Amino acid sequence: MALLIQNGRIITADADYTADLLVEGETISRIGEGLTAPEGTRVIDASGKYVFPGFIDPHVHVYLPFMGTFAKDTHTTASQAALIGGTTTYIEMLAPAQSEPLREGWEKWTGLAEGKSACDYTFHLGVTRWDDETEATLRDLVAQGMKSFKVFLAYKGAFGIDDDVLYRVLTLARELGVVVTAHCENAELVAQLQRRLLAEGKTGPEWHEPSRPEGVEAEGTAHFAAFVEMTGAEGYVVHLSNERALEAALEAKRRGVRLHIESVIPHFLLDKTYAERPGVEGAKYVMSPPLREKHNQHALWTALEQGLIDTVGTDHCPFDVAQKAMGEGDFTKIPNGIPAIEDRVNLLYTYGVSRGGLSLSRFVESASTKAARLFGLFPRKGTIAVGSDADLVIYDPNYRGHISASTSHMNNDYSAFEGWEIDGRPDVVTVRGEVAVEGGRFVGDPGRGQLLRR
Ligand code: URP
Ligand code: ZN
Ligand code: ZN
Ligand code: ZN
Repeated sequence: MALLIQNGRIITADADYTADLLVEGETISRIGEGLTAPEGTRVIDASGKYVFPGFIDPHVHVYLPFMGTFAKDTHTTASQAALIGGTTTYIEMLAPAQSEPLREGWEKWTGLAEGKSACDYTFHLGVTRWDDETEATLRDLVAQGMKSFKVFLAYKGAFGIDDDVLYRVLTLARELGVVVTAHCENAELVAQLQRRLLAEGKTGPEWHEPSRPEGVEAEGTAHFAAFVEMTGAEGYVVHLSNERALEAALEAKRRGVRLHIESVIPHFLLDKTYAERPGVEGAKYVMSPPLREKHNQHALWTALEQGLIDTVGTDHCPFDVAQKAMGEGDFTKIPNGIPAIEDRVNLLYTYGVSRGGLSLSRFVESASTKAARLFGLFPRKGTIAVGSDADLVIYDPNYRGHISASTSHMNNDYSAFEGWEIDGRPDVVTVRGEVAVEGGRFVGDPGRGQLLRR
């Protein structure tokens, strides 16, 4: 059915105007004032509301075997939660075990998503080892439209790679013209500091941050930047959490290194005192890089407002309370991760735009447009233009509510943002022209999502 969205305030990364939008089939067919609709068109009144391009989460974990357990979402739960929160596309980190050939990982990860996601999705191809099979599979998958790799400099003995593999991945990426995304923490320093703290009897979740302090991430960031520079590749630092690491990344950018910066919603809003709560209450807030001292949040917000931080993701990675309790008595065994895929847009809008200094255009750019541009989805995704996919978020800035696990759609039993107020929410969300969310409820086709080849 065609849709006519009337009188909304349309916000893109570079425009802000009031108009009507006509959607026919999967794409936007007309934009203008006083549009008339063909017979049978559904008319939606968007007066007093924003119309944003569908938001893109460039960093999520849905299926992740990690630290002796599995992240808890399925594509069914994650995609519906994403849509309710205004995210219409996500990019999952495909992270095979080091013992698993990349081709097998690809088949497993895509098989779990196919027909199960309500929104569109694609993958960063995780490289966790290097051999002929890995290289051949990367070449083949890039030829099939995958446009980004992922490496972990952290997680020694699990996903982590050494400098030899890092160099090879970046060299191949440069040849193929794809971006390499990287988790930047020095793995050796983390392992040594963990050992030292445990030997001193420091076992609670409050020791997670001291086991990977700001300097560990700053080193990882500078280290990655140097490899990006020497190979001439294009890099993307994921979940950058603190001012020292930011300075390392910006210093590289000033030298002309092609480096992009992502920060994730927990680091903008939560500080390390949350993880200092005793026992499992603190464990709920354990992620890597860790939640930091509060002053870092100011640096992240300022850099975001100025466009120095490119994108805002979630690093959505849900473990429930029982899984978090696996680290009772040893913080190195707490599964790392915080769920947020449903809440990113509302939190960024509320604490960035409504209550902070983030402009509407930077909000849209950092939560949608920039990821589309960097990862080969633009202008199909990430903007509102004739011919673009009709992934639209009609956003109600007059809604008032709060976040709670009891009303969340993510497959988890706690929220890291329990009780946080929100100053708006998506009223209607469309996926390629079909209404998926109305009044905060999922009403769409649970299997509509497609794997995006770019
Ligand atoms: O703590 C985190 N971030 N868990 C997910 C894996 C990763 O490093 O992104
Ligand atoms: Zn990571
Ligand atoms: Zn180094
Ligand atoms: Zn992650």
